[in-house]
Amino acid sequence: MKKKVLLMGASGSGKTSMRSLIFSNNPASLTARLGATIDVEQNHVRFLGDLTLNLWDCGGQDSFMDSYLSTQQSTIFSHVGVLIYVFEVESRNMTKDLEYYTDCAMALKKYSPDAAVFLLVHKMDLVRGNKVEVLGKKEKDLKDASGAMGIRVFGTSIYDESLYKAWSQIVHTLIPNASVLSKHLTTLAAACGATEVVLFERTTFLVIATSTPPTPSTSALVQSSTYRSSDKTPPTSPLHPSMPSSPTTSYHGSETDGVGVSQDDDPHGMESTRYERTSELIKAFKHSVSRLREEFHALEMELPEFTAVLDELTKNTYVLIVVHDPTIETAALRLNIKLARKKFE
Ligand code: GTP
Repeated sequence: MKKKVLLMGASGSGKTSMRSLIFSNNPASLTARLGATIDVEQNHVRFLGDLTLNLWDCGGQDSFMDSYLSTQQSTIFSHVGVLIYVFEVESRNMTKDLEYYTDCAMALKKYSPDAAVFLLVHKMDLVRGNKVEVLGKKEKDLKDASGAMGIRVFGTSIYDESLYKAWSQIVHTLIPNASVLSKHLTTLAAACGATEVVLFERTTFLVIATSTPPTPSTSALVQSSTYRSSDKTPPTSPLHPSMPSSPTTSYHGSETDGVGVSQDDDPHGMESTRYERTSELIKAFKHSVSRLREEFHALEMELPEFTAVLDELTKNTYVLIVVHDPTIETAALRLNIKLARKKFE
């Protein structure tokens, strides 16, 4: 099954950067070297099982945009599963950005009326003031420009897990059996006595499904990771000091610099979840490991407060199991993962 994903937005808004981070495992620091995309760069990404993402990264310079909207219109906008449109939060010409966006939205409505539309307000790390307020205002402008079209807006940055959160949710809409996966994970969690079990896609480490919906009280992995402008560089190891020492730590708590948001008043996906933070940390760790010419296979953590095992589940997925019962051995968790493999293949 092939799903066409259109990635559009003004030149320099960050489209190729996010693609290279998520799908090519490059670190954020290398994105500054990327050149402008010429016309459309197509990539086929083998995702879960037989799901292939056909990613169209559409260069955003005006001449290309004009051509997508005229001579290439039917080629670009036909058979689209998802449109991801990227806006720079501090764009110098939002009026022009919105004009191009509404033209694209009209073309999409004509050629792919059932496509899902996700709007990313990107480079949120550059906002100095109240990020939630800035994002709320942008969302209102984007909703006004979208009219009756159903859209979802996310605030994102390549320098934190917000990008993983947005992309995980986007990809989730493309996975046909996501609810069945969650059910199997719940069964696996019960068999292991686990607090939570999370399924990640192997190459991207995007979150595919979880055994439980995230609740602050069960947060085990990541300390309060609210959007922080000071978080410029991702840590290089999952054992970085930002990892929590307490299983009761809230993941969207009242952080530090006045930009913290609680889950309740954060409808834009600005609040970070521990799952996406884990994706980001593991990707950074994998990158560090590859620099040592080693390959990443699995990870075990045994701390006084919790135990976590991250291991391959199928050829396309990794599973993370977190338990708070100190009597449960990691060997038992690994055995359960082995036994569960058949269910997920
Ligand atoms: P075209 O290919 O011309 O359409 O541009 P693009 O949208 O693909 O932009 P690209 O990914 O090349 O990014 C342009 C610049 O934005 C690069 O220097 C990136 O490092 C930077 N950038 C991307 N994402 C972010 C972000 O979240 N925050 C900040 N501060 N900079 C970013």
